[in-house]
Amino acid sequence: MSIKDLRVDGARLRRSLETMAAIGATPGGGVQRLALSDEDKQARDLFVRWLKEIDCEVSIDEMGNIFGRRPGKNRELPAVMSGSHLDSQPKGGRFDGVLGVMGALEVMRTLHDHKIETERDLVIVDWTNEEGSRFAPAMVSSGVWVGKLERDWAYSRTDINGLKQGDELARIGYKGETPARAFPIHANYELHIEQGPMLEAEGRTIGAPKGVLCLHWYDIRLTGTANQVGPTPMAGRNDCLLAAAEMIQTVNKVAHLKGDMVATVGEIHNYPNSRNIIPDGVHFTVDIRSWEDDHAIGAWEVMRREFEAIADRHGTPIEMEITWRVVRAPFAEELVQNVLDTAAELGHSSLYMVSGAGHDCSYINQIAPAAMIFIPSKGGRSHVEVEESSWEDCEKGANVLLHCMLTSAQQL
Ligand code: GLV
Ligand code: MN
Ligand code: MN
Repeated sequence: MSIKDLRVDGARLRRSLETMAAIGATPGGGVQRLALSDEDKQARDLFVRWLKEIDCEVSIDEMGNIFGRRPGKNRELPAVMSGSHLDSQPKGGRFDGVLGVMGALEVMRTLHDHKIETERDLVIVDWTNEEGSRFAPAMVSSGVWVGKLERDWAYSRTDINGLKQGDELARIGYKGETPARAFPIHANYELHIEQGPMLEAEGRTIGAPKGVLCLHWYDIRLTGTANQVGPTPMAGRNDCLLAAAEMIQTVNKVAHLKGDMVATVGEIHNYPNSRNIIPDGVHFTVDIRSWEDDHAIGAWEVMRREFEAIADRHGTPIEMEITWRVVRAPFAEELVQNVLDTAAELGHSSLYMVSGAGHDCSYINQIAPAAMIFIPSKGGRSHVEVEESSWEDCEKGANVLLHCMLTSAQQL
């Protein structure tokens, strides 16, 4: 068989995805596998077992990133890498992240079955805590790996219960010894669901993003004066939840100032959170994304000033933290073209687009040529239990990944 005719085993890919989906399965048909939870550990253990079955050299670094390396003929050449993440959102879906890990695994298994040797090493990776939901920020471990984030800062990040990311890594047995430092990469491809409506709307099968939007996260904390809601007159209250409500309106209003921007408040904590106490503490998050870093920074400046004015008016002192910023990632044109050409060779329609979702590929792109392969998300829904992509599209995406990786892996 010519290598051009090589195809992944779609049924096996489906079985891997279904087996993973059972780990942390939710009653609503989704998955809850928060970073460094017991479910994440279970998924990791299974992944490591599967890597060993196909003779990959497994290593785990200080951030818990799991690498499986399949030796090529020229071991001194920079490797071709692919992977994504096994963690999920709370009540998340069965495809976000895990498709990119199981897709790359299916590529490796296919090469293993057919005893195909590549010139370069192939590496598959599971990045720790891509989601950033349990421990902010997102993509933290690829960020450390490329040298853009500090390892010890990442270790110190806490979840809602005050547990530290570094301690949780150790608890589940994935605080590895290998330094979390980038090794040479010739090309990096990440297979992922689109998580938006474009491919479905355009009736296309494969998305080739030209890059990923910039992504900026902020944490806002307000302090008010708690009091009994009944006897306390409306005038003169320092109600920080009311102040937060105005701020949330501001976030939405400012996002509309530029066409290519989105801004969201997705997380809020109200203290003491009792219906008959005026709230004296609020913590909420702001997520701003745009293809133009300047637009996102400009929007934050407007929000910041308005937040200060609102806090002042309500007498609720405010603290604003710039938690995380990752610049927009324009992918390597040659690799994006490889995705488009490979899709065409395999007979699939494609769409040149932009990724609104964040991916580890944003960080990898800062040190090596990177690109992504998207498949359609039904109804454009993601980060929800009903997140869905067809098994056929998963297989098509994995075949595009297979041939993109092979093309790059045979380059000398
Ligand atoms: C990552 O899941 C994101 O927030 O886009
Ligand atoms: Mn993802
Ligand atoms: Mn996600």
